[in-house]
Amino acid sequence: MSLYRIIRPLAFALDAETAHRLTIKALRLMPPHRPPDFPESLRTRVAGLDFPTPVGLAAGFDKDAEVPEQMLSLGFGFVEVGTLTPRPQAGNPKPRLFRLRKDRAVINRMGFNNGGQPAAYGRLQLDQRLPGIIGVNIGANKDSEDRIADYVSGVRAMSSVADYLTINISSPNTPGLRQLQDEGALKALLQAVNEARRKNGPPIFLKVAPDLGEGEPDQIVRVAIQHKVDAIIVANTTVSRPPLKSRHASEQGGLSGAPLKELALKALRDFRSASGEQIPLIGVGGIATADDAWERIRAGASLVQLYSAMVYEGPGIARRIANGLAERLKREGMSNISELVGTA
Ligand SMILES: Cc1cc2nc3c(=O)[nH]c(=O)nc-3n(C[C@H](O)[C@H](O)[C@H](O)COP(=O)(O)O)c2cc1C
Repeated sequence: MSLYRIIRPLAFALDAETAHRLTIKALRLMPPHRPPDFPESLRTRVAGLDFPTPVGLAAGFDKDAEVPEQMLSLGFGFVEVGTLTPRPQAGNPKPRLFRLRKDRAVINRMGFNNGGQPAAYGRLQLDQRLPGIIGVNIGANKDSEDRIADYVSGVRAMSSVADYLTINISSPNTPGLRQLQDEGALKALLQAVNEARRKNGPPIFLKVAPDLGEGEPDQIVRVAIQHKVDAIIVANTTVSRPPLKSRHASEQGGLSGAPLKELALKALRDFRSASGEQIPLIGVGGIATADDAWERIRAGASLVQLYSAMVYEGPGIARRIANGLAERLKREGMSNISELVGTA
């Protein structure tokens, strides 16, 4: 029986945010150790980076980069910290995080609560880190008068401690942020980001919403390729509400977990048909099993990420999914996970 089976009822007796805080505190007490060894068949190269497995931790769990190495030790193939804004900010009033147990889902309206980029920078300094891929997800402060300037300063501030940077323009909890996905705004943003990018700086990923209209994926892909974005992460939480059973179903915020699965898969397919093989995609939203990850990779994802399923299944989930993928590759006679990408 996994340790998480014992811990889960205790964690679920607390309100969701308290449980999350305690989890981070407990993880901080765990000295990071060398990550597990994974089969060679899972090793994959995306945007010039070598990933030991394609199964990563999505942004929002470790917003302040407190435990990225612990999460790598637990078997995530890569970890994305953040969203980090230039200045610290408190986020929205509590309660702002809800478990929807019957739906295996989460609703959050955290609103980029974080300690700011300078504090995270200190923790992420490369010379004190074990090997492993840590991405840094950046955003804009809620009260910023110039949001594009916030992304530019994020690129400048965090490039030297990030293996990749994610430009997050898809959180539903900072009013107006998603408008940066509109063609004109996106061009202006990505042009400014490009000017701030260093010559040998980290690759830049763009994270989009699953709630896009007809034609928007094509537009975003076009602009992203024009501006040398290295990968697109599809997708963030949804503001839509598929049928839900839990009492928190009508809370405002972004929905993640099982009810997001079909929507995020459809969004990924739209991005794949818009992009062909021109830009790598990272699939996220409702992934909870090796079969889910398999399907996402077949639909065009070079990598996958998850967060909500870990709330229900514990941190061992990344390793279970990775090993499940390796077993299935073997069964299907494939030698490497990259052969599977986009075969659906
Ligand atoms: C509590 C919570 C906080 C999140 N915070 C962020 C964030 O700060 N930045 C971000 O890009 N995504 C954030 N996300 C979105 C996740 O990274 C992911 O895109 C989404 O939850 C879908 O994946 P999942 O269904 O596996 O959770 C957050 C998700 C949750 C549940």
